[in-house]
Amino acid sequence: MLVLGIESSCDETGVALVDAGGAGVPRLLSHALYSQIAMHQAYGGVVPELASRDHIRRVLPLTQEVMKDAARSLADVDVIAYTRGPGLAGALLVGAGVACSLAAALGKPAMGVHHLEGHLLSPFLSADPPEFPFVALLVSGGHTQLMRVDQVGSYALLGETIDDAAGEAFDKSAKLMGLPYPGGPHLATLALGGDSAAFKLPRPLLHSGNLDFSFAGLKTAVLTQAKKLGPELDSRKADLAASTQAAIVDVLVKKTLAAMAQTTLRRLVVAGGVGANALLRSQLNAACQQRGIRVHYPELAFCTDNGAMIALAAGMRLQAGLVNLQGLQSGYTFEVKPRWNLSELQPIPVATP
Ligand code: KG4
Ligand code: ZN
Repeated sequence: MLVLGIESSCDETGVALVDAGGAGVPRLLSHALYSQIAMHQAYGGVVPELASRDHIRRVLPLTQEVMKDAARSLADVDVIAYTRGPGLAGALLVGAGVACSLAAALGKPAMGVHHLEGHLLSPFLSADPPEFPFVALLVSGGHTQLMRVDQVGSYALLGETIDDAAGEAFDKSAKLMGLPYPGGPHLATLALGGDSAAFKLPRPLLHSGNLDFSFAGLKTAVLTQAKKLGPELDSRKADLAASTQAAIVDVLVKKTLAAMAQTTLRRLVVAGGVGANALLRSQLNAACQQRGIRVHYPELAFCTDNGAMIALAAGMRLQAGLVNLQGLQSGYTFEVKPRWNLSELQPIPVATP
C-alpha cells in the first residue's frame, strides 16, 4: 500500500512516499523538502501569508519529484495523507486542499494527520526504530511536551509548557543576540565557543514537582542580561548563548528524567526540531546510559518538519487498523485544525479478556 504524505504546517513544504504494505514499519521510498527559511529570514520570523503562497508554488513540483525518484506514478498511490494541524491555518489549507484535490482526481482516499504524531513517530524512519511503549519528549518551535506512548494512536500527555516552547526560547533569545531566524541552530553554534557558567540564568519550574515547563521568564532574563552588558554584549555573546542553551537543556533533561522515573519506562524518544541540539543529545545520552534507558532520535534530516513523518504516521495508523478508508473517500470535504491537542486523538480501546 503506497501512502503519499504532504506537510505544509509552517515554513517547510515536504512530500514523501512510503510503502505501508506488510507488517513491518512503513518503508520510505522517496522524499523531497523545500525550506522557506531564507525567504522569512528578512522578516526575522515566519510571515504566514508568504508561507501559504510559497507552499502553493512548491507542493506540486515536489510531488512530481518524489514520484519520479520512486519510479512510481500517482495512479499507484493508495492513500494521500496531509498535515491537518496544528500549524498556520493558511499554510495547512494549501496542503489539505492539494491532497484532497489529488485524491478526488485519482479516486483515492485522503487522510488528515496530526503534525505532532508525525514528529513523535519519526524515529521509526531510522535504521534502529524504537519499540512501544516509550516516553516521548517533543521539542519543536511551537510545542514542548512529554508524552507516554503505548502504541500508535495512544498518547497520554504527562506535561507540557505553560507558555513558550523550548524552540521559541532558543529562537527568541537568539533574536535578542542579533542572530538570524530560526535562531536555535545559530545559537547552538555560537555557544560552542562560550562558557555556559558565565551567566546565571533561571531554570523555571525545575522543582515544581510536576512535568510542566515554562520558558517565557528565561527570555526576559536573557534580555535583562543583554541590556546590562550594553556595548559589551558583542564580546560576551558566545558566553550568553552558552548560558542560555545550558539553562534550556538543563530543564529539558531533568524533566525528561523525572518522566522516565514516574512512568518506570526504559525507552525514550526525542523528536522535533530542538531534538537536533547536540548538547541536549549528549546530556540525555549520558544520563540515560547511567540509568539503563535507551534513547531514540529521528535521523537529523527528519528532526525538523518533513513529509516523510506525515506519510509514515498515516501508514502506521493504517497498519494499526485505526482508519476507515471507505469513510475517508466520501465527499473529500476537509477542515484544518490550527490548534489541536495530540491527546485528543482517539486512544485504541484496550481489549479485555
Ligand atoms: O519541529 P520544527 O522543525 O518545527 C515545528 O514544528 O515547530 O522545529 C523548529 C525549531 C526551531 O525553534 C529551531 O530553532 C529549533 O527547532 N532547532 C534547534 C536546533 N535545530 C532546530 N534548536 C536548538 N538547537 C538546534 N540544533
Ligand atoms: Zn514540526
